[in-house]
Amino acid sequence: MKTRSMNNSSSFCILVLLFTWICLASSYDGPLYDFSAYTECKLQPEDPLYGGGVIGEEAFYSRRPTGDDSGILFSPAFVLHNVTQGTIYSFSVWVKIDAAEAASIKATLMIENTKDSCIGSVSAKRGCWSFLKGGFVSRSPHNSAVIYFESTDARDIDIQVTSASLQPFTEEQWRFNQQYQINTERKRAVTIHVSDKQGSRLQGATISVEQISRDFPFGSAIAKSIIGNTPYQKWFVKRFNAAVFENELKWNATEAKQGQLNYTLADEMLEFIRANQITVRGHNIFWEDPKYIPNWLHNLTASDLQSAVNSRIQSLMSKYRNDFIHWDVNNENLHYDFYEKKLGPNATLEFFKTVHGSDPLATLFLNDYNVVETCNDVNSTVDKFITKINELRRGGAIMDGIGLESHFTVPNLALVRAILDKFATLGLPIWLTEVDISNTLDHETQALYLEQVLREGFSHPSVNGIMLWTAISPKGCYQMCLTDNSFNNLPAGDIVDKLLSEWQTGAFENQTNEHGSYSFYGFFGDYKVTAQYGNSSSTSTFSLSRNEETKHYNIQL
Ligand SMILES: *[C@@H]1O[C@H](CO)[C@@H](O)[C@H](O)[C@H]1NC(C)=O
Ligand SMILES: *[C@@H]1O[C@H](CO)[C@@H](O)[C@H](O)[C@H]1NC(C)=O
Ligand SMILES: *[C@@H]1O[C@H](CO)[C@@H](O)[C@H](O)[C@H]1NC(C)=O
Ligand SMILES: *[C@@H]1O[C@H](CO)[C@@H](O)[C@H](O)[C@H]1NC(C)=O
Ligand SMILES: *[C@@H]1O[C@H](CO)[C@@H](O)[C@H](O)[C@H]1NC(C)=O
Ligand SMILES: *[C@@H]1O[C@H](CO)[C@@H](O)[C@H](O)[C@H]1NC(C)=O
Ligand SMILES: *[C@@H]1O[C@H](CO)[C@@H](O)[C@H](O)[C@H]1NC(C)=O
Ligand SMILES: *[C@@H]1O[C@H](CO)[C@@H](O)[C@H](O)[C@H]1NC(C)=O
Repeated sequence: MKTRSMNNSSSFCILVLLFTWICLASSYDGPLYDFSAYTECKLQPEDPLYGGGVIGEEAFYSRRPTGDDSGILFSPAFVLHNVTQGTIYSFSVWVKIDAAEAASIKATLMIENTKDSCIGSVSAKRGCWSFLKGGFVSRSPHNSAVIYFESTDARDIDIQVTSASLQPFTEEQWRFNQQYQINTERKRAVTIHVSDKQGSRLQGATISVEQISRDFPFGSAIAKSIIGNTPYQKWFVKRFNAAVFENELKWNATEAKQGQLNYTLADEMLEFIRANQITVRGHNIFWEDPKYIPNWLHNLTASDLQSAVNSRIQSLMSKYRNDFIHWDVNNENLHYDFYEKKLGPNATLEFFKTVHGSDPLATLFLNDYNVVETCNDVNSTVDKFITKINELRRGGAIMDGIGLESHFTVPNLALVRAILDKFATLGLPIWLTEVDISNTLDHETQALYLEQVLREGFSHPSVNGIMLWTAISPKGCYQMCLTDNSFNNLPAGDIVDKLLSEWQTGAFENQTNEHGSYSFYGFFGDYKVTAQYGNSSSTSTFSLSRNEETKHYNIQL
């Protein structure tokens, strides 16, 4: 928790009158979210977060609700009273197992008349305590509910839990905490000083400030349909500073027939990217899902496949070295293993090493789904992802980035944040790489959930960028479009536009005070500033980037 602005709130308030929310901080008496998370297994558990919050006493041991009838399985469980509608519950607990070396343990929320839902998972070990963090959003009020624990492969193992915590946040409290993070992690205080050439302070000089670019990469997938499509291009450039190609770089697209490389579409899209100073992620070099590999790969011998793999890396990297800020080196490796099956267990490790050798400055990502979206997918829990990263690192891979696809249906915000907290312990860049909301929901509901997910991502201190999976093609979009085919906003597009304008400083004008200075709080990015006094004026630019200190910027007239 950073307390900087909370402690000096009186002077701080004067400085940032424009941003009155901070002054409200001194009157906010709700809970401040605790970002703590642990990935190592500890001999002693830590104290419960929030002093335990509202969770009742000790867990009791009950017959496991889903156990089969042949044996009696006992599970630790917590009974919750008074589950309030619309409340966001942050849950955490320390877990230890016996009888097995290691097992994946999940916490499940059981409420009468509703489907059981996973609210957190952890890879637990014997002999030490592991930290499970998650939570849930209650959609209706309930007098009672139960949280119970089980091994995800339904093995009969003893589970112990301790230091449990359940902290409720109202929607307003959750929003306050997000806003607080945005204001402390995505913005910085600036003081502009204006003097004349002799150094005398100039009071009453007019300062015009305009944010001309944003630091935070926020963008969307694009498809070949953007080539030569001026309305699409204009629409995109007006909003976004980052992009990714939906399909056009995938192996199946660039080499549909062995040896016949065709980068025409990727090149034309890259031209658009360069013409508009957009940053672009490279997606993807390999995709483990056998459904999406080029047909001709299926029947290759291991050694032919190995040389095809090497040519693919060599060709992409020599052509596009330095063009893409990231490479999704191996897509969806937590779910599929086409290459491992054919080339051996170290296939992914070798991909990382070879790609790094070819483009040492590109940030290399693993990218997967059902990681931040749910804890129900046993193949892609946060701990499985972290284990994979650690294995690659131990093998000598330079693994620099965590790509969380973020294909949501109904987002569980408490779980999303808890999982991000756990990834944050690794100190690697985290990107939400393919954000959308399922098309099983109507447009209004998609927009509602999209706003929740985007606020969650932007307010998490460890998220470095957000990409939407909303490429438009004549057939529509993968799950969610922001506009119709004439670029008129759908509800989701309105949300994106609203947040883009909320998350920028914009343009404004003011006067220097008796110290010849003027202070404001701005989002990270580049600024153009014009100072004018009498007949003299000067225009210049400066950058605001992440730093705890106030930026001081001097202008002489
Ligand atoms: C139920 O929870 C709400 C919100 O956490 C609280 O305001 C209320 O007093 C609680 N009611 C009871 C009976 O505990
Ligand atoms: C390469 O791809 C482009 C775009 O799809 C296509 O127009 C062109 O004919 C292809 N070139 C060859 C040699 O197949
Ligand atoms: C692979 O690419 C070909 C040609 O671009 C396309 O027809 C086919 O649908 C693609 N297959 C998959 C599985 O994406
Ligand atoms: C792969 O080999 C099988 C068996 O020889 C054959 O039936 C199939 O058509 C081949 N597939 C491709 C894509 O060449
Ligand atoms: C999880 O992985 C296993 C082994 O790779 C596979 O058999 C299973 O189908 C996967 N499950 C899901 C949901 O992807
Ligand atoms: C995989 O890589 C690791 C680390 O470099 C090495 O110790 C191990 O022997 C390799 N395994 C195989 C099957 O090549
Ligand atoms: C100018 O700055 C003062 C003091 O910081 C502030 O009270 C006022 O609202 C600002 N005016 C505008 C138009 O931003
Ligand atoms: C501004 O310039 C005009 C014309 O050169 C001059 O008459 C005037 O005194 C100047 N004003 C100031 C404040 O310097």
